[in-house]
Amino acid sequence: MPAPLPIAAQRVRVKAIRLLLLAPLTLAGGMVHAASPQALLEHYRCYVCHAEQETRTGPAFVDVATRYRGDARAEGSLVPEVRKGTHGSGPWRMPPHPEVSSADARTMVRYILSLRK
Ligand code: HEC
Repeated sequence: MPAPLPIAAQRVRVKAIRLLLLAPLTLAGGMVHAASPQALLEHYRCYVCHAEQETRTGPAFVDVATRYRGDARAEGSLVPEVRKGTHGSGPWRMPPHPEVSSADARTMVRYILSLRK
């Protein structure tokens, strides 16, 4: 039978395990604040319905960019839309995402509008 670890060594091991368990959570939490637009789109699960280049349940983000090209008001209207959902006239609507901060919505919308085919 292996000798039991001295208490100090056991403590170190518990700490190491705790670090291993908590590190990914801490990183994920941090991402929400200083993340790349794509990490945010991933984090808020926008890619469940959208892709950058292809139409899925929602429009391809490049098509959104094309549609609003040259429209100086696009960012201002799309940012609240992401949070409140759309009221499109078509059969499809985007559900609201109230969990998205305005700052994060702005980061994502700016990125979406910058895409090119
Ligand atoms: C459940 C599916 C779904 C999810 C999740 C989703 N969308 Fe959408 N999105 C749609 C649909 C459907 C439309 C088209 C809505 C319409 O025509 O009214 C759309 C439209 C859009 C538009 C264009 C709106 C316009 O007025 O042209 C943007 C920008 C957008 N989504 C961004 C996002 C972002 C950012 C997220 C993540 C926070 C997200 N979407 C998550 C389904 C979704």
